[in-house]
Amino acid sequence: MRDAALVIDDGRVVAVERAGAHGDEHIDAGGRCVIPGFVDSHTHLVFAGDRADEFAARMAGAPYAAGGIRVTTDATRAASDEALLALAEARVAEARRAGITQLEIKSGYGLDVETERRLCAIAAQLTDDVTFLGAHVVPAEYDGRADDYVDLVCGEMLAACAPYARWIDVFCETGAFDAEQSRRVLEAGRAAGLGLRVHGNQLGPGPGAQLAAELGAASVDHCTYLNDDDIAALAGSDTVATFLPATDFSTRQPYPDARRAIDAGVTVAIATNCNPGSSYTTSMAFCIALAVRDLRMTAQEALRAATLGGAGALRRTDVGHLSPGARADAVILDAPSYTHLVYRPGVPLVWRTLTATADPAPPSPR
Ligand code: NIG
Repeated sequence: MRDAALVIDDGRVVAVERAGAHGDEHIDAGGRCVIPGFVDSHTHLVFAGDRADEFAARMAGAPYAAGGIRVTTDATRAASDEALLALAEARVAEARRAGITQLEIKSGYGLDVETERRLCAIAAQLTDDVTFLGAHVVPAEYDGRADDYVDLVCGEMLAACAPYARWIDVFCETGAFDAEQSRRVLEAGRAAGLGLRVHGNQLGPGPGAQLAAELGAASVDHCTYLNDDDIAALAGSDTVATFLPATDFSTRQPYPDARRAIDAGVTVAIATNCNPGSSYTTSMAFCIALAVRDLRMTAQEALRAATLGGAGALRRTDVGHLSPGARADAVILDAPSYTHLVYRPGVPLVWRTLTATADPAPPSPR
């Protein structure tokens, strides 16, 4: 809409109407474009340590491998709760400045019962979309005993983490967990009352997308390698395909063909996948630019995937749109239209982020 006013009362959108609406408070956006706050449905924000050297090596030709997760696990296990919370709060504040008003946070850098519990408890202080990802990779102490580790994840670890979590996730990929192990993890999570999410089809073709569709997962994330059967399974399901284009950028992977999935009727989202190994960014605008430039979405499809699509991937109806009744989470862009998110790549266009929820603590020193 042009020349519109967004009317907010008590943290909720009441109306979108012609400019000139009256209220107790008034923000003049000065002709700027107002969009829903971004919904980031895939992040790994609670971690310690830095893997810039690994990134530099990759840019010099080294391949990305799931094993890097263990490097962050060592640093995370050694960090105190206070340090991990301060680091995560700073990242949430950074995401907020970039226009993200709802985000999901996964555990997955603990990989033992107590550290996974700590990570879920910290994430629960920052969001109501906490995902238990004990099945991220097999930790070093379980080398050669992946099934024993899956027993731990499905038993004691799940029992310790489920009280903090809304979701369970598994990295279904060569080098992480196979289809049967992934199925066990997801079924155990479901029995504990958690919703299902899957990391799949990231590093090569694999069973993740079809498993997610079969089990009714809310989302399968990455989807870099989708074949015709994967697309058909997703199109006939309620599972959202979540693309993580900043990951393909940062790992020098090929980009997925989102156009093909959308044209086949798959519901799609895009998310940042902010993590220290494969995608260290909180910029949804960057993801939108990649989605248009390289995944072949239109600007409108990419904006929708980063807002309403993310909400769908989290099975939420209160965010990702600005219809009456929605949470009053909105972003004012310093631009006349959302197309500028793609047209002006790398430019910080978020002029103001409005949120119905309290701001997280200010950034802490690193
Ligand atoms: O989503 N794929 C698995 N997990 C993360 C990578 C985490 C890491 O490398 O530390 C991801 O890309």
